[in-house]
Amino acid sequence: MQLRLDPITAENWGAAVAIEVADDQRRFLTTPAVADFLADDAAHPTFTSYLICDGATPVGFVSLGHTPLDTAEWSMPLLIIDRVQRRRGYGRAAMEGVIGHVRGALPAPRVLGLLCHRHNVVAQHLYTSLGFAQAGAPEDGDAELKFRLDLFTETST
Ligand SMILES: CC(C)(COP(=O)(O)OP(=O)(O)OC[C@H]1O[C@@H](n2cnc3c(N)ncnc32)[C@H](O)[C@@H]1OP(=O)(O)O)[C@@H](O)C(=O)NCCC(=O)NCCS
Repeated sequence: MQLRLDPITAENWGAAVAIEVADDQRRFLTTPAVADFLADDAAHPTFTSYLICDGATPVGFVSLGHTPLDTAEWSMPLLIIDRVQRRRGYGRAAMEGVIGHVRGALPAPRVLGLLCHRHNVVAQHLYTSLGFAQAGAPEDGDAELKFRLDLFTETST
């Protein structure tokens, strides 16, 4: 596996909008169609969308960025591994790449947050296994749960 996060350009836009969520997972996403998500991209100038590629093969899509008012607070509004590429380790490898990318950003990020549907147990397993923790107590009616990964590492002597 040789995973890369390629920023979306005119050249790979077609491959990005061809990334599809599996039918049984669509209900977990507010915007399951990549084309719809990208159509709204200009409204979020501090976020960048990426095609996730294994060598020459597009396998997924992810969007990442910091909030406009706080460059230390990052979030990931969308992650999709294509329906035919699921369960091959791409989701885990992509998240490791995402975390590495955010850790390397300047100025130093403090937190990476995301929302996850409360019934999306596969994604929750993935995130918690990578160190994300649920943030705050969900209200009864909430469809989505907040997760966050604290990126500050204290150096002790
Ligand atoms: C969640 C998602 C990104 C996972 O991607 P993936 O490439 O299938 O995941 P991986 O193959 O890397 O597997 C990651 C872990 O989840 C487990 N897993 C993946 N699919 C699973 C399934 N259908 N049932 C049970 N476990 C599953 C794997 O066993 C693995 O666990 P392990 O590493 O502890 O053994 C992918 O299913 C997806 O795109 N879902 C739809 C969109 C979505 O839910 N995005 C997240 C929004 S918060």
